[in-house]
Amino acid sequence: MVIHPSILAPSLLAGDHAQLATSVKEVAALGLTWLHIDIMDGHFVPNLTFGPQTVKALRPHFPGLYFDTHLMLEEPHRYIEAFAKAGANSISIHIEPEYDHRATLSKIRELGCHAGIVLNPGTGADAIKALLPAVDLVLVMTVQPGFGGQAFRPEMLNKLRQIDAWRREQKLSFRLEVDGGIDLQNGVECRTAGADTFVAGTSFFAAADRAAYARTVAQW
Ligand code: DX5
Ligand code: ZN
Repeated sequence: MVIHPSILAPSLLAGDHAQLATSVKEVAALGLTWLHIDIMDGHFVPNLTFGPQTVKALRPHFPGLYFDTHLMLEEPHRYIEAFAKAGANSISIHIEPEYDHRATLSKIRELGCHAGIVLNPGTGADAIKALLPAVDLVLVMTVQPGFGGQAFRPEMLNKLRQIDAWRREQKLSFRLEVDGGIDLQNGVECRTAGADTFVAGTSFFAAADRAAYARTVAQW
């Protein structure tokens, strides 16, 4: 059984949108290796954020940083190639919209990226069970996606436990990531429930001591 070390993935959404590179530099300067990048289309979620061009523009400035790309798109299959070419390391797609999930996950891997599947809070774990052998990452949303700064939903802990149990039973090694309202208190609870990868937007960028924040997560 693989137990992944915990990884903190600060969310660029909570960075300074007038100086994105400055926010990313602060993340890299702490020795952190992951950056979470939220892509929204105004359809699947009621907000708009970044596109492949943003990822492409950041890539040469941070060649070693792992770009964890979360696509909140109604038609993610249309953009996989663009994000892979732009320099994404992982590309995570939601299970809720209708498209060929399995083919899209394969395509992500063919393009040399890690493939992730994402569930909204209202979506049961069963919806992704059959896809588990085809993914490198499962992202459990702990808020309704669309905006940063929302409150963590503790009822998602059971979903984490369920997915973690399947991971053990099937001897799989995908990462189990949480996203939405994560902070140093509920993050530990998520870790205990099986999560190993922690997206933090508001709580990380607003922290008085981000280095201490990063050190704490690394010790989970
Ligand atoms: C929400 C996004 C999150 C967001 C998290 O739709 O998927 O990644 O940036 O932000 P916080 O940590 O502020 O909830
Ligand atoms: Zn996200």
